[in-house]
Amino acid sequence: MSNLTFGIIKPDAVAKGHTGKIIDRILSNGFKIRGMKLIHQTKKNAEGFYAVHAERPFFGELTEFMSSGPCVVLALEKEGAVKAWRDLMGATNPAEAAEGTLRKDFAGSIGENAVHGSDSDENAAIEIAYFFSKLELV
Ligand code: CMP
Repeated sequence: MSNLTFGIIKPDAVAKGHTGKIIDRILSNGFKIRGMKLIHQTKKNAEGFYAVHAERPFFGELTEFMSSGPCVVLALEKEGAVKAWRDLMGATNPAEAAEGTLRKDFAGSIGENAVHGSDSDENAAIEIAYFFSKLELV
């Protein structure tokens, strides 16, 4: 089990001014921030990131949304980071997200769901490398 995962504070949460509150929750839940930057993705960049979902009916909507405004990309460290970050985020659909999770508190819909997290150690490494250079990881 790796101690790193990748996260995004998505454009909906950044636009609504939730960035600081989400970072506070990340830190108070015991994560160390190893990498962090505010970026505005191009549609092509978002399509590359979500390539595994290319055949899904919501791919256009998803990549349009993810390139619609600034987001914060994060490399997070904690023991069992992938599961710990998914637990803190809550269910993909905010209607199903448990009390105390970020999606329960900040997400509006399954598409605009405030945060992203890697689903495995392998994908965490790929996703961190997609957005961060070595110099940007402390
Ligand atoms: P994320 O964890 O970023 O990975 C893929 C994303 O696709 C997911 O979060 C959702 O925001 C989005 N997604 C999943 N299902 C749907 C759907 N039915 N309609 C729109 N977006 C979806």
